[in-house]
Amino acid sequence: MAIDRVQTGINGLDELVEGGLVRNSAVLVAGKTGSGKTMFITQFLYGGAKLYREPGILVTTEETSRSIRNHGARFGWNLEEMENKGMLKIIEVEPFSIDTLVTMLEREIQGIHAKRIVIDSVSMFEMYIEKQLEMRKLLFKTLRRLKDLGTTVMITAEIPEDSQALSRYGVIEFAADAVIVLQYLTLTKYKRSLLIRKMRDTNHSTDIHPFEIMENGINVMSI
Ligand SMILES: Nc1ncnc2c1ncn2[C@@H]1O[C@H](COP(=O)(O)OP(=O)(O)O)[C@@H](O)[C@H]1O
Ligand SMILES: [Mg+2]
Repeated sequence: MAIDRVQTGINGLDELVEGGLVRNSAVLVAGKTGSGKTMFITQFLYGGAKLYREPGILVTTEETSRSIRNHGARFGWNLEEMENKGMLKIIEVEPFSIDTLVTMLEREIQGIHAKRIVIDSVSMFEMYIEKQLEMRKLLFKTLRRLKDLGTTVMITAEIPEDSQALSRYGVIEFAADAVIVLQYLTLTKYKRSLLIRKMRDTNHSTDIHPFEIMENGINVMSI
């Protein structure tokens, strides 16, 4: 049986992953600060709503919904229009509210029949929950529930500046079905790049792909 794929709305990405993300999977987008994670997930949700008619939810722990709207507007993404159409919902949450997050999200997903959901980022939760085992359990449970509700999930995690790992305590990547790493290097010709570290059920590119932030958003190069 062919695998149902979700087109990302990120130019040049779908071609690298057999046409899109695996529907109902959980994708971790990891990168250091300023690597483009928030932009990446905003484009995924905006593209989903606008191009593919899939309602989405953006849970933000770090930015205000206003700053997300304003940032999107710079790339011609009218997020407010999508919100008014019931195709997008931006929810600001406090990082210590992870216990009640799932229940709240169940309601919101049903409310707009969301097909895509993003949590930007889970790093704050990682810092609030001291026990790694507890964090792992909670994350598994949360992602499982969101997938059961029929959504394709993206979570972002901040890679600490001095780290070679994919997340602060190395817990998050195990819970994800796919991991995409965004990099920002100042000394290379193409400063920004993307690497698909894992994607279950997908014959994905294993190259480092430069990407550019252009007037319409992220454009990944096939190299
Ligand atoms: N209009 C733009 N044109 C080009 N680059 C931009 C533009 N707006 C933001 N950026 C770049 O994108 C970065 C923001 O990425 P962001 O998604 O907030 O990163 P992260 O969430 O990983 O911290 C900025 O630091 C800036 O370098
Ligand atoms: Mg961010």
